[in-house]
Amino acid sequence: MSNILEVKNLVQQFDLNKSILDKIKFKNGKVHLEEKIVHAVNDVSFNVKKGEVFSLVGESGCGKSTTARTIIKLLNPHSGDVLFDGLNLSNLSREEMVKQRSRIQMIFQDPYASLNPRQRVIDILMEPMLFHKKASSKEHARTKCLDILTKVGIRPEQADRYPHQFSGGQRQRIGIARALAVEPEFIVADEPVSALDVSIQAQILNLLMDLKEEYKFSYLFIAHDLSVVKHISDKIGVMYLGKIVETGTTEDIFSRPKHPYTLALFDALPRLEGNNLIHSKGLEGEIQSPINLPDGCFFYERCTSRKEVCKLKGPVSIEVEPGHLVACHLFGEAND
Ligand SMILES: Nc1ncnc2c1ncn2[C@@H]1O[C@H](COP(=O)(O)OP(=O)(O)O)[C@@H](O)[C@H]1O
Ligand SMILES: [Mg+2]
Repeated sequence: MSNILEVKNLVQQFDLNKSILDKIKFKNGKVHLEEKIVHAVNDVSFNVKKGEVFSLVGESGCGKSTTARTIIKLLNPHSGDVLFDGLNLSNLSREEMVKQRSRIQMIFQDPYASLNPRQRVIDILMEPMLFHKKASSKEHARTKCLDILTKVGIRPEQADRYPHQFSGGQRQRIGIARALAVEPEFIVADEPVSALDVSIQAQILNLLMDLKEEYKFSYLFIAHDLSVVKHISDKIGVMYLGKIVETGTTEDIFSRPKHPYTLALFDALPRLEGNNLIHSKGLEGEIQSPINLPDGCFFYERCTSRKEVCKLKGPVSIEVEPGHLVACHLFGEAND
């Protein structure tokens, strides 16, 4: 199967200095320039095959959303390439990008903030459908949108209501319906269930997977919790401080996790002992600031398996078994 998405050496940064004046600092009576740059995404590469679900997992602040927003060109990449179905999105003109935009849709974490509160649900769906010419008339669009709403579990008689008249789970269904309205091939779902009650999470995950079967989508799925992605992913990339530290099939990651950070994420999951749910204390410390990146391995400060070399140089990615890549000094001769 061919790749629908290829992300190559993607780098994204945010410059916190608004102007040159912000950069000028005095230290020991001397003027010097101080750059304040947030290194949110640091050389991320991965591929998603047609029909596949690729999940990015990692703690809050590790750069998942920035990666997603850069892929769909809500942000221009600092460097690196994004190929969608073989097309390099960086080289597309504005008009060409508008054409491609309907092929890639995003579902957001907070379904309320991403729906216009002053628009009726039917209009939230019809507007992009008509803009991307996926219906021949307003009447046609209305019929198609009512069908889509039914498919996601919203009844036609609810279509003229406003977003605030729905529950969180229903609003996420509307967000999904809006994505479907433009007949996409690829869906970027950025923590689509994180804001929902646990009981609703499974329903929305099931809906996303049913739609995948029906429409043959490919997904980039983002979560901060490994347990959310277990049953839906074909492949998983574990992200730390803007880098993918381990990637492999769901089986590779769940049965043979290698990177100390992946192991720590598993340790942090609540588990059943007898009838008791045990919450372990999880990972010590917090993710470092992406403003001053370390010289060595980004995980060094929190790693329980660290060695001398880890502080000095960053590890290269090693294929520990076919398709299972780990960037850690514990693996591979190149990292000795
Ligand atoms: N617009 C922005 N300006 C400055 N820093 C940002 C901006 N967006 C995100 N960041 C920073 O980039 C890092 C990665 O953020 P994000 O991609 O939202 O992580 P995640 O989605 O994994 O929680 C964080 O340190 C965050 O504070
Ligand atoms: Mg995020």
